[in-house]
Amino acid sequence: MPPGHRALVTAPFRGEGLDTLQQLADVVLDPWIDQTPLRIYDGPRLAERAQKEGADIIVVESDFVSGPVFDLPLVAIGSCRGDPNNVDVAGATKAGIPVLRAPGRNADGVAELAIALLFTATRGVLPADQDVRSDLVFRDDTIPYRRYRAWQLAGRTAGLVGLGAVGRALRWRLEGLGMQVLAYDPYANDAGEPLDRVLDESDVISLHAAVTPETHGMIGAAQFDAMKDGVVFLNTARAQLHDMDALVACLRSGKVSAAGLDHFVGERLDPEHPLTSMPNVVLTPHIGGATFDTEANHSRLIADDLCRLVEGERPLHIVNPEVLK
Ligand SMILES: NC(=O)c1ccc[n+]([C@@H]2O[C@H](COP(=O)([O-])OP(=O)(O)OC[C@H]3O[C@@H](n4cnc5c(N)ncnc54)[C@H](O)[C@@H]3O)[C@@H](O)[C@H]2O)c1
Repeated sequence: MPPGHRALVTAPFRGEGLDTLQQLADVVLDPWIDQTPLRIYDGPRLAERAQKEGADIIVVESDFVSGPVFDLPLVAIGSCRGDPNNVDVAGATKAGIPVLRAPGRNADGVAELAIALLFTATRGVLPADQDVRSDLVFRDDTIPYRRYRAWQLAGRTAGLVGLGAVGRALRWRLEGLGMQVLAYDPYANDAGEPLDRVLDESDVISLHAAVTPETHGMIGAAQFDAMKDGVVFLNTARAQLHDMDALVACLRSGKVSAAGLDHFVGERLDPEHPLTSMPNVVLTPHIGGATFDTEANHSRLIADDLCRLVEGERPLHIVNPEVLK
């Protein structure tokens, strides 16, 4: 890259990737997530900021890249996401600007949260913790052992619906726990199980599919009904994949014995929602990918691809390769 390049980075950016980027360009690092209140630029405000900074590289995570941004003389736009849906890719392509993305950046983080939800839900960790804090260990004339007896995971079967970056990162972790893993993903070569079999034979069902017209609502009343009695249900992918009313009904009937959810429609839950009073349910607010490693991973992926781009190589994760000369 010729000297004098400047990168405006509004994503959190750290580790090796930041070092690499600093060797390529002067870096103005101003992560959106560090602002209080949160700041998310729209196209015009991002263009104004980039122009003010004299930036010819823009790296974003949540800011919207559109309209006047494409009038700037940009070398590249990096979107620190697997799915760069905050970038008007058609607009960038028309302007001849390469768009880079960061697939799989948070796969390990989400897989680890899925494991955390699984144990927390199946072993009653939250109510048991509450018993200790409230000095109610020997409540109801019982001992905790009796109230919290559960089935172990080793020796049981987990079914993954969707075997992309997160599904794969979870599969080996579950196998490491001694579980047999079945996977359904019509677009993955090594996930050949039919959905019916996965639903029928799994003690734990965990969703990891992308939301598409085909997967929207794919786990409804009929699919819950096809699951084993007492199945454990996890969704660390997106709320749109399952029917919430059907899940609540199955938790009430005992068809689903426990659940762990990292997503809700609108990313929040009404405090009066039935799930909030169920002790066998663990609820987290879309924190699957919330690790420092996610940030280090996307920094490395984007910075390494910027290096490839300026050295005349094809970036590994370019969204619009047609702009390469
Ligand atoms: N909780 C979080 O913080 C968090 C973070 C990252 C990703 N996610 C979500 O996790 C899910 C997986 O993310 P990823 O990074 O592994 O994405 P990915 O693109 O690597 O994998 C998605 C998988 O879904 C599969 N798929 C598509 N249609 C399907 C269908 N009809 N049935 C079954 N599988 C189907 C695809 O073939 C692909 O393998 C996505 O929904 C994503 O939005 C959540």
